[in-house]
Amino acid sequence: MAGGAKAQRARSVSDRRGARDRRDDGGWQPLSLDTKDGGVEAEQGLLAAALAAREFAQAPYSNFKVGAALESLDGTVVSGCNIENATYGLTLCAERVALVKALSEGHTAFTRIAIVADTEAPTPPCGPCRQLLWEYCGDIDIILGNRETLTGRHRLKALLPLPFDNRLLGNSD
Ligand code: THU
Repeated sequence: MAGGAKAQRARSVSDRRGARDRRDDGGWQPLSLDTKDGGVEAEQGLLAAALAAREFAQAPYSNFKVGAALESLDGTVVSGCNIENATYGLTLCAERVALVKALSEGHTAFTRIAIVADTEAPTPPCGPCRQLLWEYCGDIDIILGNRETLTGRHRLKALLPLPFDNRLLGNSD
């Protein structure tokens, strides 16, 4: 009895580990752009567009500049950068800026998005961006890079495995 309670207490203490301890830092390796993957040139172009957009980032509070470039089905590339403001909370991520620009210009079908930051490790889209990208773009390719190299390739579905979307509202289109 006492042993069981003790074990349970020990378990609940370990369950209260901080979020930091629960995170898997994971290993990552920069991916070579020089592969036989058919889309590499387009990937490079999209990364270059994201890098160029990053120059316009308005990030005086975090000094963390991000650029994104969203490719639509017809090949149009719409870019965006992060835009911060004095309330902090109204910050717009680069991905969302690219997405709303593209939607507001009439683009509704997308194939991939490139995201570039000046970090050695990949900078993946944040949770809210994953949600919006999922709802408006579906299972697109996510191409991550820094100023020198490609750092990751993912499908959005893998980054948002159990999404909430309009199908759950009964509005399947
Ligand atoms: N940020 C992005 O624009 N995209 C990301 O994928 C990660 C974070 C921005 C938001 C904020 O301006 C700064 O980076 C630091 O979080």
